[in-house]
Amino acid sequence: MSAVGRPIVIGHRGASGYAPEHTLASYFIAIEQGADYIEPDLVMTRDGVLVARHENEIGGTTDVAARAQFAGRRTTKAIDGVSVTGWFTEDFTLQELKSLRARERIPELRPANTRLDGTLEIPTLEEILALAREGRERRGERARALGLPPPAPIGVYPETKHPSHFAALGLAMEEPLVAALERYGYRGAAGCAYLQSFETGNLRRLRRLTELPLVQLIEAAGAPYDCIARGEARTYADLVTPRGLEEIARYASCIGPAKSLVIPREADGRSMGATSLVADAHAAGLKVHPWTFRAERAFLPAGVDLESELREFLTAGIDGFFTDQPDVGARARDAYLMRG
Ligand code: G3P
Ligand code: CA
Repeated sequence: MSAVGRPIVIGHRGASGYAPEHTLASYFIAIEQGADYIEPDLVMTRDGVLVARHENEIGGTTDVAARAQFAGRRTTKAIDGVSVTGWFTEDFTLQELKSLRARERIPELRPANTRLDGTLEIPTLEEILALAREGRERRGERARALGLPPPAPIGVYPETKHPSHFAALGLAMEEPLVAALERYGYRGAAGCAYLQSFETGNLRRLRRLTELPLVQLIEAAGAPYDCIARGEARTYADLVTPRGLEEIARYASCIGPAKSLVIPREADGRSMGATSLVADAHAAGLKVHPWTFRAERAFLPAGVDLESELREFLTAGIDGFFTDQPDVGARARDAYLMRG
């Protein structure tokens, strides 16, 4: 059983299995499907507004390439040490970004989502927070009408994307993020918001600004970009050792590992059983929220469906999980809890 008893369902990029990711439609579906938290990845505009995109390059998830007026903005940059060509949010004002429309990132795997291509805007963090508040009120009214106790609030689980890159441009993300959350009542250690990052310095800066719980994201390989940039010899493998977890616990209350760090699989998809990561993290006082659970066959191990994959992770003691299909996630979580 997890350390907190009721593992949380995090709507990954909203309900990105059912609508183009990081759109209000995607977040709305996640709320309606019973996600406990909705997850916006955040980047900055040229005029300093936090908006939801998985990366600052927007050629893959918007129609910017078809907009002649922005053809001259196409460029090549080094982003976190990698050369990337395309269009970048930091080169657009909010008004310009709002003139674009979202597109499905993986149409070959999610053809149904393309029905919404060209119809949805890039949302701001403020719009997402307002949507969560509306959802919370809607759930509350429904519960009151049925004579039920107040439901758990809908939380938000924002991730800062490329925070060192934006800070170097004079567009630091930490203060505007905390200020926006506070405006919507998200504050304190039990504030129904988790703030996540793959970088470490970014989280340490956030620790000085807020008591909201922080989440150290951990890739299956490599090293945090800011550690590489500072010349520190610290890899993600170092972070998942008992000593690394103790260090994380000084500034964060949760880890968000790639799911293969919790349950690795053989090349043919067979489970290799749980590693000691969940137990080690719990021993350090950290919750564990792995990512990303997806229902499409292309993302699943052979012979396993999403509900059975989740059952194995829940049995391993995770405290929550990121999923593109919050309806399946909530069903799997509830079935697991009902088993007693
Ligand atoms: O933030 C958890 C998970 O979303 C990390 O992966 O690349 O989808 O942001 P990514
Ligand atoms: Ca994310």
